Order: sequence, then C-alpha cells, then structure tokens
Amino acid sequence: MNILLIGSGGREHALAWKIAQSPLLDTLFISPGNGGMESCGTIINLDVADHQAVINFVKDNNVKLVVIGPEAPLVAGLANDLSATNIPCFGPTKEAAILEGSKGFTKDICKDYNIPTAKYARFTDANSAKDYVRKEGTPIVIKADGLAAGKGVIMAETDTEALTAIDEIFGGSFGDAGAEVVIEETLYGEEASFFVLTDGKTCLPLVTAQDHKRAFDGDKGPNTGGMGAYSPAPIMTDELITQTMHEVIEPTVKAMNDKGTPYKGVLYAGLMLTEKDGVKTPQLIEYNARFGDPECQVLMMRMKSDIVPALLAVANETLEAIELKWSETSALTVVMATKGYPGSYEKGTEIKGLEEANSLDDCQVFHAGTKKEDGKFKAIGGRVLNVTGVGSTIAEAQSNAYKAIDVIEWEDGFCRRDIGWRALKA
Ligand code: AMP
Ligand code: GLY
Repeated sequence: MNILLIGSGGREHALAWKIAQSPLLDTLFISPGNGGMESCGTIINLDVADHQAVINFVKDNNVKLVVIGPEAPLVAGLANDLSATNIPCFGPTKEAAILEGSKGFTKDICKDYNIPTAKYARFTDANSAKDYVRKEGTPIVIKADGLAAGKGVIMAETDTEALTAIDEIFGGSFGDAGAEVVIEETLYGEEASFFVLTDGKTCLPLVTAQDHKRAFDGDKGPNTGGMGAYSPAPIMTDELITQTMHEVIEPTVKAMNDKGTPYKGVLYAGLMLTEKDGVKTPQLIEYNARFGDPECQVLMMRMKSDIVPALLAVANETLEAIELKWSETSALTVVMATKGYPGSYEKGTEIKGLEEANSLDDCQVFHAGTKKEDGKFKAIGGRVLNVTGVGSTIAEAQSNAYKAIDVIEWEDGFCRRDIGWRALKA
C-alpha cells in the first residue's frame, strides 16, 4: 500500500524509518521531509495548509493511509478533511487535537472528570488575571492558551515576572495563542512523558520514554523542544503506568467521546510525578496530540512489531486487535542543535561525517533541521540531528550514541553530554 507521511522533524524521520520497514508498504511519500529522509521514501512538496491539494495527491497516488506527524496540521483540521473523503488518517480531528490546542480546554476536562492536575484558572483579560496572581502569590505558572511552539509557558518566580508575562501574552507576543491565559499552581516533582495509541475505544500504552527539556547539561538553561530522550524510563513504574491509565488517560478518552469528538491517534501526556509521604502520583501538566520529539525516535528504535497495522487500526477503529511487541534493549537519542538554539542561530552551516556515524553498529542518525544540497548536508534549523544509540542498558545505548556524535564534524553544532543521567542514577 502507499502511505503519505506529513512532517519534517526527527520524529517524522523516525516514523518514516519505521514505516519503510513494513512489508505492507509499496511507496512511502513524505512531505516536506528533510535532508535525511530520502532514504526512507519519496520526498514530495505539498502545501500541507492546502487540504484540497493533499486530498488530490492522495487520490491521484492511491494513498491508503495518511500519517500526520506535527500538531499544526492536526489543529488546522487536516484529519477532518481527509476523513470526510474517506481517506484513513492517523491523527486526531481538530476538535480532538484541541487537547493540545487549548490548555484551558484540557484543564476544564480535568476538572469535570476528576483528573489530577495543578489548580488553575482561565482568563480573557489582563486585570482579572493579575488580580488572581496577587491573590495566589508566586511562584506561579502563566500560560498562553493556544499553540506557541513550546514557548508559551512562563514559570514566574516573582509577582513582577508573572504580571509582565500576563501583559506580554495579552499584548500579542504569542499572537492568537495568547487570546486567553491559563494560570496554574506550580507543581514540584520529576516530569515524565507517557504515550498511548487510541482509536477512541481501546487505549494501548507504549513503552516508557523520557526527554530532557533544558538546553544544557545538568538540566540547566532555557526550556527547549527536547535535547535528548531515552527508553525505557525507569521512573515510570508499572504501578504508575496503571495509575496513569486509570486516572488520566481513560477519563480523557471518555470525556472526548462524551463530547462527541472522539480522540484517535497518539495521545501524549506530559506528567509531573509529585511526591507525598514517599508515594509518587501522576499529575497531568499537558496533552500533546502527536508523538513527542525526540521521544518518538527512541520508541521507534525499540518497536519490534510492524507499525503500519497499528497506525491503520487507529485510523479504522480496530485497535482492540493490535498487540505491539517491543525490544528488551534500551535506546537513547542525543539532539545536536545549532549553537544559539533555543534562541537565534545561523542557518546553512555544513555537517560532515554523517554517513560514518550512521554506519557504526547500534547507531541510527535521524535528521531534523537538515537539507541536502549538492550532496552536502546543511543545518537549517534549531534542532538538527538526533543521534540514537541502542544497547542492552541505557548506559550502553548512551555510549553508542556519543560514539557516533564524536565522528560527526560540525563546528556550529552543540549537544548535551549527559543525556540519560537520571535513568543512570536510578
Ligand atoms: P507545557 O507546555 O504545558 O508542557 O509546559 C512546558 C513545561 O513547563 C513543562 O514541561 C514543565 O516543565 C513546565 N510546567 C508547565 N506547567 C507546570 C506546572 N503547573 N508546574 C510546574 N511546571 C510546569
Ligand atoms: N519532547 C517534547 C515534545 O515533543 O513536546
């Protein structure tokens, strides 16, 4: 069968790499793709915002499944328009992707369905938001309601920071995403990512994975989209997985069904594991309507089953029949980013040694912000490569990833040297 994959990040490279191994696949079309993905399929240039153009391509090329990687086309309703023309699609409708698209919507679901989460309030004007901050005091968390490319969360330590954040959000620094502000109590604990596939009826948890959000070693510096990830994540014990399924995931899937907007796709819960009397409890920080990036990369490295039947089963609401098999090995990915990220950075610098790195044993280099020009790889984004190692332990996977990093020549890039440290400590 022919499949169309939408996206250009490391997450989509990993999905493409996995889909390309399926015996069910004839041609994998990828749009827009990146410098590393041509080995997985046929790169095409579709305007993804033009849903009719996507539908026309799908029909003209006998595509039987569309896989949508990033959140923007989901929130824009690409899955709605594909489904309306009976094209199977992996990814939620815009009414369901609102779990990522509106933090206030998700908090209201938590309140209505008793899902553990931080205390919160929603505001559409600055004065009432500021009154609330003065009443609650700091530290406090100020969030733009909508999609803000991971930048719309301000952890305010002082009143001044909180009030300034409110003014900035309502002042338009996040565009439409800042039409509403959500203010939350600060939670303390260790964060964990948790992923399930769901067709709206069955929820199939994936193996655990964990990312590192901060830019620099020791989990210091500004928040980023993720500087590395590993799987399994020892913090997510079997008890915590069961508890998260019962207290967070299942009520959410039920809520979306009750609203008449069933969620189909991968549901990614960002959790804070708070601790009381030595017992850890999962609290929902946020939902994403997509795979985590770079968590997806380590999940794909460990998935033994063919992914295509699972993706199709989500689209066709037959997930009940699917069982996923996972490798017992560990996987760890290190993000190489352009110096300056997550702030401003230069584009177009050359990267060498990628083939050598990729040919090492137990290593896979996924591309994110790269393009291939005259046979050379150029960095054109913030997060540029995901150098991924596997091994019988996290330590071995880490060592294999860094061995590969050390053969990549890229003066303008940097990476963290401590990805996986929490798991290694555990
Ligand atoms: P979000 O985009 O909502 O996941 O927030 C981004 C990051 O901000 C999270 O990964 C947490 O590190 C942090 N964060 C968000 N909300 C809270 C909260 N209520 N308490 C503590 N940290 C938070
Ligand atoms: N790695 C975090 C994210 O994908 O949002």
